[in-house]
Amino acid sequence: MKKIHSLSRIALPRITLCAAILGMGLNAHAADETIRQLAKERGRFIGTILNSEWFNDDIEPEFEEIHKTQFNVVVAENEMKFDATEPNEDEFNFEKGDKMVKYALANNIRVRGHALAWHSQVPNWVNNYKGQKEKLLAVLKNHITKVVTHYKGKVAEWDVVNEAINDDYNADWRSTNSVWYEGIGAEFLDSAFVWTHEADPDAELCYNDYSIEWGLREGSKASFVVEQVKRWKANNIPITCVGTQTHIEIAHETTPQNVRALAKALAELNVTLNITELDIGFPKGSAGNLSAADYAKQGHIYRQFMDVFLEEPNMGEFVMWGLTDAHSWLDEQQGKTEGLLYDKQYKPKPAYDSVMASLKAHPASEVKTPYSETILNPPKDCDAGGCGDSTIAIMPSAVAKKGMSVQIAGRTLFITGIATEKSANAASNAAKVDVFDMQGRPIYSTQSANGAADLSTIAEGLYVVRVHDGSTSIVKKISIK
Ligand code: XIL
Repeated sequence: MKKIHSLSRIALPRITLCAAILGMGLNAHAADETIRQLAKERGRFIGTILNSEWFNDDIEPEFEEIHKTQFNVVVAENEMKFDATEPNEDEFNFEKGDKMVKYALANNIRVRGHALAWHSQVPNWVNNYKGQKEKLLAVLKNHITKVVTHYKGKVAEWDVVNEAINDDYNADWRSTNSVWYEGIGAEFLDSAFVWTHEADPDAELCYNDYSIEWGLREGSKASFVVEQVKRWKANNIPITCVGTQTHIEIAHETTPQNVRALAKALAELNVTLNITELDIGFPKGSAGNLSAADYAKQGHIYRQFMDVFLEEPNMGEFVMWGLTDAHSWLDEQQGKTEGLLYDKQYKPKPAYDSVMASLKAHPASEVKTPYSETILNPPKDCDAGGCGDSTIAIMPSAVAKKGMSVQIAGRTLFITGIATEKSANAASNAAKVDVFDMQGRPIYSTQSANGAADLSTIAEGLYVVRVHDGSTSIVKKISIK
């Protein structure tokens, strides 16, 4: 049942609620300044989960409004896990995952898939095969192949293996309470990466774990991860990223710098580091007694994480495990509370302002992206439902930012106002030109030279052209005659 009582329950003055919906902090900035906008300009993805309540239509309307306004990457809290997607052997249920993908496509949000091989949230029928190596290999392969194939091209990145390392930091694999490790051995990890890659060669593939933000000391979990990544790379196992969950507490002030050190170690191996499940909780007992200074401290730690994220060139995604303190696993399962950017009334906390302040302190021209242009601005796949919003194409709001403009004359597209200081292309005054049909399907791409692009090979008709110069894009309808 959809919650429609939020206005009366929250009883906020109308003006405050509007501000909350727009995601404005107390020092309200222009309505169009959102985390997602600043993230996109910087070639990065910042986001959060869709809580299980969203999937069940049991969440306040503010949730989705803020979610799609503020964020450009999304993860399902539980709905893509093994027990959700294959509740009975070889019977798959993609209903909820599909709901998220549809929402993400309609709102241009990147999707992380979480998680394929994990010892937790495994359905009972798998446990019936405990210790049967061949059977478990077949079960895992079938699961990965069918799930990843189903979402091929729609899920940009998978947590292929989640939490496979021991809890007690003795630098080894988790050897108990893991049906996969106990039945198959450590080779289940290597196989999982290979099978995922076979099913979707374009997806990024992560190893994801907790407590790897605790530092690269000898024998630490983080050092173990780095050693394994070295081994995987040396053996051509297709890993492209590591996820550090980063469920931390307000007392963990040094963790941002630990994350920086891990990013640097992984950069040497050509692997991206993502923050995948950040929350910075207070002890549960402190609920109701927190001061402005407590929230400022939380904001300070969020800010340091965001600084590290933006300063390390091999970091790509910054994902929080929840949007509002009203819906968080911290209270329900962790004995912690209030770890997120928005409070229980959907009001942005000082942590929100800190994240924005960090983004603004790191101008787009100084932030490197680990992603290619196609990943940052994926062409719309209309067959997959990506054109539900009529595509970039026919939007009358095709706006030229920072003075860029395009004009068609005959078969030549003339571009003025290409960025001069930022882009690598600036020297040649070049920009990437993508042409789409009116349904939003990509039909032609080229590079402009000296402010012009030749479109002579394109048939007569109406099209949409997108010009991107590394920092700015313009989208415009054109007629080729
Ligand atoms: C948690 C969910 O938030 C809960 O709703 C669920 O009951 C248990 O799992 N690490 C992970 C996530 O990789 O999948 C976990 O999510 C949080 C810890």
